[in-house]
Amino acid sequence: MYKKQNFKILIIELATNSSNLILTTLQELKYKCFIANTQEKAYDILRIEAIDLVVINSSESDNLAIETIKDVQNLTFGGIVFLTSDANIDNMERFLKYNLLAYKIKLGNILNIIHEIDWLIERLIENSSETILVIKRKNETRDFVQELLRLGRYDVVMCQNGASAWKKLDNLDSLSMILIDTNLGDMENGDIIKKAKSLFSKSLPVIAIYEQYNPILLQENISHGLSDFITTPILNIEFTLKINLWIDNIKQKREIKRKEDILHQQSKLASMGEMMENIAHQWRQPLNAISISASSMLLSHELGIETDEDTKEQLEGIIEGAEFLSHTINDFQNFLKKDKNPIKFKLQDVVLKVLKFINGNIKKNNISIIQDYTDDIVIFGLENELIQAVLNIINNAKDILVEKKIDENERFILIKLSKDNLNKDAILEIQDSAGGIPLAIIDKIFEPYFTTKHQSQGTGLGLYMTHQMIKNHMKGSIEVENKSFEYFKKQYCGANFKITIPLDISQGISFI
Ligand SMILES: Nc1ncnc2c1ncn2[C@@H]1O[C@H](COP(=O)(O)OP(=O)(O)O)[C@@H](O)[C@H]1O
Ligand SMILES: [Mg+2]
Repeated sequence: MYKKQNFKILIIELATNSSNLILTTLQELKYKCFIANTQEKAYDILRIEAIDLVVINSSESDNLAIETIKDVQNLTFGGIVFLTSDANIDNMERFLKYNLLAYKIKLGNILNIIHEIDWLIERLIENSSETILVIKRKNETRDFVQELLRLGRYDVVMCQNGASAWKKLDNLDSLSMILIDTNLGDMENGDIIKKAKSLFSKSLPVIAIYEQYNPILLQENISHGLSDFITTPILNIEFTLKINLWIDNIKQKREIKRKEDILHQQSKLASMGEMMENIAHQWRQPLNAISISASSMLLSHELGIETDEDTKEQLEGIIEGAEFLSHTINDFQNFLKKDKNPIKFKLQDVVLKVLKFINGNIKKNNISIIQDYTDDIVIFGLENELIQAVLNIINNAKDILVEKKIDENERFILIKLSKDNLNKDAILEIQDSAGGIPLAIIDKIFEPYFTTKHQSQGTGLGLYMTHQMIKNHMKGSIEVENKSFEYFKKQYCGANFKITIPLDISQGISFI
């Protein structure tokens, strides 16, 4: 990839005196700049230095300027930006035939023009990391396309027929776009497009070049995934705009995907964090017991007061503790496994598994769990993901009960399981007695990174992940409202999370 600091610009001054300002401004922008006030001097520099961009600064759009452009094009591959004080439209058209990177009329503040040149160069530098595959039989159009892409500094891979493109596709590290001849002769366009899209991205832009407009062929290519087309004769500006537009499109999609990947990674870490916290609680007690048993055995041994009976009892305790630890590791591993296929399970078991897992943490904080369900509810769906979802919600309820320092006799988490009237959905409600979610934030809690907790406590990903799993994976829905409930003749209020999932995921409606 190019860097700004290595980008070399030559300014050729033709009968004008604004070049010094251009020079110093471009230098301030960190470019490596050269200036020449005669054609000869300019050509000398071009022969020695590998110039990336030539700025021809002129007052007239005249024959001298055209001659200079032609000479420069013979001496360098670098693109040309032509600056002129001449506002004549006919002259402009005459100049655009020479594949300039830009033709700029100097009106108003010259600094604006320099900033436009800066953006143009930034674009050229970025373009150099975008690979474009051109599959086109040899002819003038192909040469023209190649020249325009080269001027745009794209990383271009040229192929003359379908077979060589087919092979090339396997060796490319990345691909941003395909420009394809409408008729490759040796291979179907559809096959190449399909292969490229499956190797790189479904949204890979594919643009056809039509020497002759053919609606039937066009329809066929569109059905194979063609994104756009260009007809010859190709207009320089139209071509460049179109290519840039499609490249921007793929760049944006790449960026969105990158952000989604990061979020996904972070969500996974967050769920590990929630699990670890509970594991720590679960382990503390059995580890203590093991350590106490071992120490007391050692002491008895040193004092010479050990009895077979005691030793056996202590060892049994140690084995039991160790087995418990190894079970919890298995549970942990199972929880973190992603469900690949739906299975049949009882909704009650989901709750039991979660409660078993977080028992230590819940007890330590003096929270009472009230379970409200009778009949078995059998579900065909994703058990592990539901476990994760319930765990996230109960963890939040626990956090808020502790954070708000709710009286230890009034810390409740209510879990209610039921079916809907039509016998299609299972409903799982989790309610706490911590006072509810402030209305100002209730609409935000499912958003990624939304948290009211201290940085070391919350990631703001728990409910986001829960929402994603229930909606996208389980074909269900999740809602929240603040509700009150009565328990032993006393009223309590708190957040109520209501999860609705189809009893049979294969019958559910997708909300995606
Ligand atoms: N039961 C609840 N009562 C009140 N507020 C809650 C409850 N559950 C979640 N919240 C709010 O929603 C926010 C987001 O929760 P979550 O996505 O799990 O992230 P985190 O727990 O990392 O903050 C919490 O910071 C909290 O402000
Ligand atoms: Mg949370």
